[in-house]
Amino acid sequence: MFFMANIFVTRKIPEVGIEALKAAGHRVVVSKKDGVLTKDELLSALAAEPYDALISLLTDTIDEEILAAAPTVRIVANYAVGYNNLALEVAKARGIVVTNTPDVLTDTVAEYTVALMLAITKRVSEADRFTRAGRYDGWAPELLLGSDLKGKTLGIVGAGRIGAAVAKIAHHGFGMKIAYTDRTASLDSSVVPAQYYTSLEELLSVADVVSLHVPLVPETYHSLDERRLRLMKSTAYLINTSRGPVIDEAALAQVLIEKVIAGAAIDVFENEPAVHPSLLNLENVILTPHIASATKETRERMSSMVAENVELFFKGQTPPHIVH
Ligand code: DGY
Repeated sequence: MFFMANIFVTRKIPEVGIEALKAAGHRVVVSKKDGVLTKDELLSALAAEPYDALISLLTDTIDEEILAAAPTVRIVANYAVGYNNLALEVAKARGIVVTNTPDVLTDTVAEYTVALMLAITKRVSEADRFTRAGRYDGWAPELLLGSDLKGKTLGIVGAGRIGAAVAKIAHHGFGMKIAYTDRTASLDSSVVPAQYYTSLEELLSVADVVSLHVPLVPETYHSLDERRLRLMKSTAYLINTSRGPVIDEAALAQVLIEKVIAGAAIDVFENEPAVHPSLLNLENVILTPHIASATKETRERMSSMVAENVELFFKGQTPPHIVH
């Protein structure tokens, strides 16, 4: 059974998925704005014609009002693995299917996490700024000393697909010890030997590097608050490639200023695209603009996966990546 669907895409994504949907006979309307649609813009785009499907981005808030404004939409395909931007319960109650893009970005985000871990512990960005500023006046035994990873403990918070991939690279690539916390002891010790902690507090107190890989849900909001940040070792580093609000960003700025921890490398922010102003002036942080999955290959795979979810849905089949 095939249904020719009218599909709205909230922002340009790699062409491959759009082309696949068009080739399958669907009508695809991509927002012409080179940026995130405001709520009013999204409401008026959805009011312009009856759409059967909505392809959204993690920067779109798809809440009750938006879903109510698009009563003909039967599937929302989110171009992201995370889906905290969607009112999932409301969608479910309206009988709308919601899909995401898991797996295709796991290794890319894991690689980026490791890039941040190396960069912050070896002070790469700081050294680059130092050199560009003309401050390099000769080799010195104690110039810009960093920390080794070998033998150190990486504390993974959330050992799902991405957390597990980071653990594997860190252990097998750098000889790090792995500690992790999650709802259950999910890591396969034949793949990567790891110490499971039921308590986040305990994990924070033993880890030399802490890396966050949890989804943003009410239980993980501000998981790293000031009290918990202060449990970390003074020599430890914090990496975040998950979602910004998992950390209390103001508290993070404070502990970095006070040198309660050695540094942080963060790719996601509490109120994106805003960054807490105190973080901007600190040397012991690396700040990047939510690009952990941003490789050409992965963003194209995400586009194809979004298309596959939508296409199968309108063929009367179950899309492979339904989130509920
Ligand atoms: C996701 O897909 O959730 C990532 O944050 C995108 O980079």
